[in-house]
Amino acid sequence: MERESWSGKWAFILAAAGSAVGLGNMWRFPYLAAKYGGGTFLLIYIILVFTLGVSLLLQDITLGRKTKQSAIGAFGTFGKKYRVIGVVAAAVPFLILPYYCIIGGWVAKYAVGYITVGAETLADGGVFFSSFITSPFESYFWLFLFALIVLVVVALGVKGGIEKINLVLMPALILLALGVTIYTFTIPGALDGVAYYLTPDLSKISPELLLAAIGQCFFSLSIAMCIMITYGSYVKDDENITQSVNRIAGFDLLVSLLAGFMIIPGAVAALGSAEAVSASSGPSLMFITLPTVFEHMGAAAPVIGTLFFLLALFAAVTSAISIAEACVSIVQDSLHLSRLKASLAILIYALVVGSFVNAGYNVLSGIEPLGAGSSLLDLFDFLSNSVLMPVVAIATCIFVGWIIKPKMLIAEVEKSGRFALAKPWTIMVKYIAPVLIVVVLVAYVAAQFGIISM
Ligand code: PHE
Repeated sequence: MERESWSGKWAFILAAAGSAVGLGNMWRFPYLAAKYGGGTFLLIYIILVFTLGVSLLLQDITLGRKTKQSAIGAFGTFGKKYRVIGVVAAAVPFLILPYYCIIGGWVAKYAVGYITVGAETLADGGVFFSSFITSPFESYFWLFLFALIVLVVVALGVKGGIEKINLVLMPALILLALGVTIYTFTIPGALDGVAYYLTPDLSKISPELLLAAIGQCFFSLSIAMCIMITYGSYVKDDENITQSVNRIAGFDLLVSLLAGFMIIPGAVAALGSAEAVSASSGPSLMFITLPTVFEHMGAAAPVIGTLFFLLALFAAVTSAISIAEACVSIVQDSLHLSRLKASLAILIYALVVGSFVNAGYNVLSGIEPLGAGSSLLDLFDFLSNSVLMPVVAIATCIFVGWIIKPKMLIAEVEKSGRFALAKPWTIMVKYIAPVLIVVVLVAYVAAQFGIISM
């Protein structure tokens, strides 16, 4: 069977940007920026994206294009014994997909919630949110709906589904983000937040800030999730990889920046300080604090709230599609199934495992795998993001840097244009990236077990 391919350069860039731009940009980035001194975090983050981030992104995409295989086969091409790296890597999208569909369902519920239940109820300080996620029926309904939409698009194929939806949703997302940003600038008191967000204060640089920025950088660019290997495997040989990588990273950064503009100034105006934004992290920031911030906008609340959750939904759908595609292509390539059958199998997988994880908020809420108050979703998130992703990123760097050797991938990049920064890239993947990521891995695990605080 001939491998599918993107219909052109922009189709690939938009789809990869669609993957990169996700909930990580919408809630994790503003939260980290608010927590770590605004402009200081921003500055460090930008530097990291265009050094570490683009290097690892290029590595994943080039591995995919060279081998024209999804993750397991991509590593296996260079020798059967290397398949094991691919197998460990493959666990990442399989762990993320179920819980990403749960959160996607929450976002979808909130996007319509401003119409169905009203801004005031959504801003009730968490009562609505917890009754929704603990509901034995409704929370499953939104999970099923979200997963179904994602897998229908994937079943339609690279050109027929994935490309088309990104072509519509990505520009729409940018327009919505610009609209909401412009509005937040007009809120009285918002400019204090803008100043905090944009002014670097170098005395605020700390080891925790650096660790958080590195982690965010490779999460946000969908690195080490098998996604970019898969998307890279559909890239044609005559497309300029370095240029595409920079554009994808630039796009992702732009949306993170806008997310900060959408959230931080409004939050500072409503809550009094940026620290108040970072007092709540993860889900509670997005689903409890933000509706409260919107509520302070008075009559504009329903409009801004709907637009914000709609654009977050677009971001979540296009990321979920990429993670589902990584799973589908792994199943397709390993079991030689048709796209339709593989998509059906992954849909069933997402529903079954997603229901199990979702049950952690209701019928199985007695299970607290990571200590009091933690949920099954936290466990899946910890295993995939804090443990496996860094492990896979380190393994990929060692594989490329020391086993197959950077020259092999440099030659692949140079099939379609000069790779001017080949030398610094080699130093990055051989030495700098593995060391940095080992530090991140150790810190994440130590923080989880309370050995250090982050
Ligand atoms: N880059 C994505 C984000 O920012 C990461 C991701 C992609 C997570 C796909 C899950 C699925 O959200």
